[in-house]
Amino acid sequence: MRSPQEIKEKIQSIIQLPALPMIAMEVVELVDNPKTSASKLGKVISTDQALTAKVLKIANSPFYGFPKKISTIDFAIIVLGFDALKEIIISISLVSSLQKKSDSYLDARAFWDHAVATGVVARRLARDLGYRVSGEVFVGGLLHDMGISILHRYFNNEFKRIVDIVRETNLSFLEAEESVLGVTHAEVGGWLAARWNLPDHLIESLSLHHTPGSATLNPDLVALIHCADVIVGKLNGKPVEFDSGIEFNEEALARLRLADPVTLEEYIANYKEIIASDIESVTMSVYPT
Ligand SMILES: [Fe+2]
Ligand SMILES: [Fe+2]
Repeated sequence: MRSPQEIKEKIQSIIQLPALPMIAMEVVELVDNPKTSASKLGKVISTDQALTAKVLKIANSPFYGFPKKISTIDFAIIVLGFDALKEIIISISLVSSLQKKSDSYLDARAFWDHAVATGVVARRLARDLGYRVSGEVFVGGLLHDMGISILHRYFNNEFKRIVDIVRETNLSFLEAEESVLGVTHAEVGGWLAARWNLPDHLIESLSLHHTPGSATLNPDLVALIHCADVIVGKLNGKPVEFDSGIEFNEEALARLRLADPVTLEEYIANYKEIIASDIESVTMSVYPT
């Protein structure tokens, strides 16, 4: 069995490990710099025509619900804001960087549906609970299970063993990961986010999405993503296979003031109705057509 340190080193050394395209890294940096002007950002995005087209398509999707047609990047920046733009660009880059091949151990479509749904629910939950909504909530939700994709691709034998264990025993996915690898997809996702130079609190929200009580940098963000993840499983009747056995963390619920079971049920019931159309519009924009 490989030690967690060996796995970490292997992950960091894989040359093909998806890197965010240069343009996405550049945009993330610009957006995070308070001195960046809208026109400077617009110029950088406009250098990539394919990216420009996709950004405009998403900006015009019902998810953002803007009544007028947004036909230029400059206008998109004004109406959407820097944060929303950052989340859009990371989403687009991600979908094109990560593979979408299915096999009997991982259904790629179910993986992406789960990723998008968690992003949408996390963002909605943050708004409804009165948290300042920044791009990170959506991106954190979208990225939270990236470690699954990495394990499936680069540690395929181990991944299959984990899935077999989950199917044949009553161990949860996390317990099976621990027994086969000594680490979980959450930590692996955190390593990937670090390799992408994403902000530290976003790395934390990936690494700790199943153990939100240990968060120190941005416990609210981690709690939001954790709860959104579990809510999405409940919306669909059952969680995706790689989240099997996960339940709400009490500390995260208390932090979001969702500890009362009646309030929580109300949120879940309410989301069933409103979320479906949001998810569909984001999914349609994010998937390559
Ligand atoms: Fe997970
Ligand atoms: Fe998940």
